[in-house]
Amino acid sequence: MLAELEKLQNEALAAIPLADSDQALEALHIEYLGRKGRLRKIMGELASLPADQKPAAGRLANQVKQRIQSALAERTNERGRTALTPAPPLDITVPGTGRKPGTIHPITQANDELVEVFARLGFETAHGPEIEDEYHNFEALNMPPDHPSRDSFDTFYIGGPGEDSGLLLRSHTSPVQVRVMETQSPPIRIVVPVKVFRPDTVDASHFPMFHQLEGLYVEEGASFADLKAVLGMAMQATFGGFDQHIHTRFRLSFFPFTEPSAEVDVSCPFCSGGGCSVCGQDGWIEILGAGMVDPEVFRHVGYDPERYTGFAFGVGIDRIAMLKLGISDIRLFYENDARFLAQF
Ligand code: PHE
Repeated sequence: MLAELEKLQNEALAAIPLADSDQALEALHIEYLGRKGRLRKIMGELASLPADQKPAAGRLANQVKQRIQSALAERTNERGRTALTPAPPLDITVPGTGRKPGTIHPITQANDELVEVFARLGFETAHGPEIEDEYHNFEALNMPPDHPSRDSFDTFYIGGPGEDSGLLLRSHTSPVQVRVMETQSPPIRIVVPVKVFRPDTVDASHFPMFHQLEGLYVEEGASFADLKAVLGMAMQATFGGFDQHIHTRFRLSFFPFTEPSAEVDVSCPFCSGGGCSVCGQDGWIEILGAGMVDPEVFRHVGYDPERYTGFAFGVGIDRIAMLKLGISDIRLFYENDARFLAQF
């Protein structure tokens, strides 16, 4: 009889953990512990045992009953827990959460387009350091230490208070002209599309860091006519479609490193010069500074000003991007808001 009880217990404890529904558990309960169940049947035989075997058999029968009961309870519990936290149903139509591919930043787009336009006109790309010395940022460009035009470029100096390192974040791209001429001889045809820094107060059209594209052309016999031709073609390619003629207008201006100097306007590409909100009803948009390289700059880099002439120009890349893409606030370029950037 003891052996029978043990066999019953083993069978029950093997079957219970596999029960995978309430009905299966109920069926096992009835099979083993029910009124007509297998345990009752064995216990019914208890009475016919010899008296000295009865206590041991009775005890074991009780133990078996308890073990089966607790196995049933445990399995019920376990199934209850899993029932409360069901696996999320798989909906294969829900869009994935993968990263969206990035877009090229609008400044980079404008930069690349300008570089491409000037490459077609024969200009190579050059670069120079963002941390510049005063000599290249000012002196070599004909701005001696007490020159008033340094004020407008008064910029971020490197070093602690009262310390004069002579180093600063370059305030324009023109120092790269000097660096290129120091290491190469004419003919020179380069553009320099890089970051520049000025302590401007931030507003819709000013930011302390922005981008310029500098151009430099030096050759025997280079003239103002060449400057007008190159900028005319470049502005046509940048702003004009196939059907819109872009005019350029040169207004007399001053830069210490060019003589004569000019501010260059383009006819407004949005209204073809008729007047609109982009050009302030003027029909023209100021786009760059330019001029013939001052002989004094050539002297600083060791070029013979009697032999060589050249022209230089500087364009604001941010401004070109704003005009081409219809963006009215420069700050949007630098906030890194993907909702803005993804539109371009
Ligand atoms: N460096 C000038 C500026 O930042 C622009 C410029 C470049 C003017 C080259 C003339 C020639 O304002």
